[in-house]
Amino acid sequence: MEERLQKVLAQAGVASRRASEKLIQAGRVMVDGKIVTELGTKVSTFSNIAVDGEPIERESTHTYVLYKPRGVVSTAKDEKGRKTVVDFLSDLPYRLYPVGRLDYDTSGVLLMTNDGELANHLMHPRNEVDKVYVARIKGQLTGDDIYKLKKGMRIDDYKTRKAKVKILKTQRDKDRQIVQLTIHEGHYHQVKKMFKALGHPVEKLSRERYGFIDLEGLTAGDYRELSHLEIDRLKAL
Ligand code: URA
Repeated sequence: MEERLQKVLAQAGVASRRASEKLIQAGRVMVDGKIVTELGTKVSTFSNIAVDGEPIERESTHTYVLYKPRGVVSTAKDEKGRKTVVDFLSDLPYRLYPVGRLDYDTSGVLLMTNDGELANHLMHPRNEVDKVYVARIKGQLTGDDIYKLKKGMRIDDYKTRKAKVKILKTQRDKDRQIVQLTIHEGHYHQVKKMFKALGHPVEKLSRERYGFIDLEGLTAGDYRELSHLEIDRLKAL
């Protein structure tokens, strides 16, 4: 994650944002060994920053898995004042941000981190990890529907990549089915759009797994910190 130099200085507790700007303009701030006087210079999580030759302490990185409940937005702020995923972790002494999004009415695995490098890695189209969803859909999938889901289908302006499909349960009396769908990418409303395009609107959706991170031991609203080992494994995906 890249951030403006004055913001990073302020976050590290060097000085207020305004005072940090003055430090930069006065030529007192070095980034990776070079004096930077330009306000708004972008620095990464890994840049070495020093003020008057003294390296600053950057915030340590933390990553959690949150079992996002339904009825919660996954942005940091909501203009309608609804509860956000960030609110669930507000007892922690650092600000964590969601890696990607889950819809308001979708529950399940959501990674929350202040590790910009990890977030960028996971969200990069080249690295996108398997995401396993369980959807309750209206009606029953035909063989042709399953073939389309698996092979890839055109949605809006993109074609979905190969997916895995598993029918978990068919409830003929209620005219619905519980389907597990594993996808790699994460377009806006992708799962709902895929089923809707086949004439089977999603009635309920949850994300059971993100890479190898699942909800084991958690109930809705719970979270736990990932271990160094888990983070290394995520970075290797
Ligand atoms: N696909 C959706 O449609 N919604 C989500 O929340 C996640 C994936």
